[in-house]
Amino acid sequence: MADQGGTGPKRLYIETYGCQMNVYDSERMRDVLAPLGYAPAERPDDADMVVLNTCHIREKATEKVYSEIGRLRVHKERRRGEGRDMKIVIAGCVAQAEGEEIMARAPAVDLVVGPQAYHKLPELIARAARKTGERLAADFAAQEKFDALPARAPDGVTAFLSIQEGCDKFCTFCVVPYTRGAEYSRPMADVLAEARALAEQGVREITLLGQNVNAYHGDDAGFAGLLRALARIGGVERLRYTTSHPLEMTDELIALHGEEPKLMPYLHLPVQSGSDRVLAAMNRRHGAADYRAVIDRLRRARPDIALSGDFIVGFPGESDADFAATIGLVEAIGYAQAYSFKYSVRPGTPAATLPDQVPEPVKAERLERLQSLLRDQQAAFNRATVGRTLPVLFERAGRHDGQLIGRSPYAQPVHAAAPGRLIGKVLPVSIVATRTNSLAGRLVAAVAPPVADLQVPA
Ligand code: 5AD
Ligand code: SF4
Repeated sequence: MADQGGTGPKRLYIETYGCQMNVYDSERMRDVLAPLGYAPAERPDDADMVVLNTCHIREKATEKVYSEIGRLRVHKERRRGEGRDMKIVIAGCVAQAEGEEIMARAPAVDLVVGPQAYHKLPELIARAARKTGERLAADFAAQEKFDALPARAPDGVTAFLSIQEGCDKFCTFCVVPYTRGAEYSRPMADVLAEARALAEQGVREITLLGQNVNAYHGDDAGFAGLLRALARIGGVERLRYTTSHPLEMTDELIALHGEEPKLMPYLHLPVQSGSDRVLAAMNRRHGAADYRAVIDRLRRARPDIALSGDFIVGFPGESDADFAATIGLVEAIGYAQAYSFKYSVRPGTPAATLPDQVPEPVKAERLERLQSLLRDQQAAFNRATVGRTLPVLFERAGRHDGQLIGRSPYAQPVHAAAPGRLIGKVLPVSIVATRTNSLAGRLVAAVAPPVADLQVPA
């Protein structure tokens, strides 16, 4: 929608980088700013306020933020010439880690706000507007943030629910413990109340979020206890969670994968490397065999579980033999999907100053080999579903008329010809073909068979 020159509602544009936690946080920022009269803008140059919700994980994250600020400054100045303003807010993990420097280096920025202070956005914005108070709000106070954020209106039949933030694991490559702070779990009662509210508003699938989600320990309930309680909420048909740490896969949680039909047979369980030497240098606190043992137990509990992971190639000191161990592990496990990265230095983390940084071309070559293997595995996994009938939760209209897109239990996007009224329903779809990143299917019946029939693996 075009800018309305100050006569209509104010327009807000949020650019989200990085993980699902940031996607979730962006939604919450939108909610917290709505009462101030901010409606979504289509483009940043139309906006009265632009929020960059940044991610610190990727390479050159900070430099990319500065170049984006540079682009926005041009619009800010143009709008100022037209008698309008554009507030620039930097949020997310780069804000947390580099807040002071951003304020010093980028005067066009009105406000820097770390992930724990989003609930204070209205107040901070008002203060920044008056140019009286601080522009910087990057303290850790996770509980306060969760308490103060308003209830949100979901915009579909699937929703993220943040239950845990921060991390105490201190993997030597990772900035999360520094940017998101210590591990914190929301009280179980709060999580259940939010889940009930989501279900009442039509949400059928909830994905629990946290940097170390399976380390959740709200009140006395462990993570498995929370999942069990969530599964009892009427209307919630599917549960997922991400991201997990192998050390937190308790016996109870593994068993639950075999017992709870609402818990989807898909798990993102990063291992980072298949070499014990590298895993030790990464401070992962487990070896490759420990990871494989967890996967074996999961597969015994839920034979069809689809696995996803994160991998880093070219960690300092990684030899050809170490990399071969990673390839060996991937071959042994067989992933349905995965993310892989070249190691990149994060200033302030222990690995940043390790000797034996791996040369760029070696990292590139290893990444290509790993990704090619992972691509093949993903394609094989998808092909293996052709001919099967899978329960699909229809989520939204597809690109073509009369088509809906949903997800299989294994988190594969599936498109099929189906009427819009089936959005929000879990229905059997016969898979007929694979595309690059999705499956094509044919609706078998527009009435749901009993859940128990749907969830049994073929
Ligand atoms: N270099 C490369 N990849 C990284 N990740 C985290 N930090 C780094 C880094 N310094 C990857 C890990 C993690 C995922 C979210 O991002 O694989 O699991
Ligand atoms: Fe980072 Fe995950 Fe390691 Fe925590 S467990 S330090 S979030 S990679």
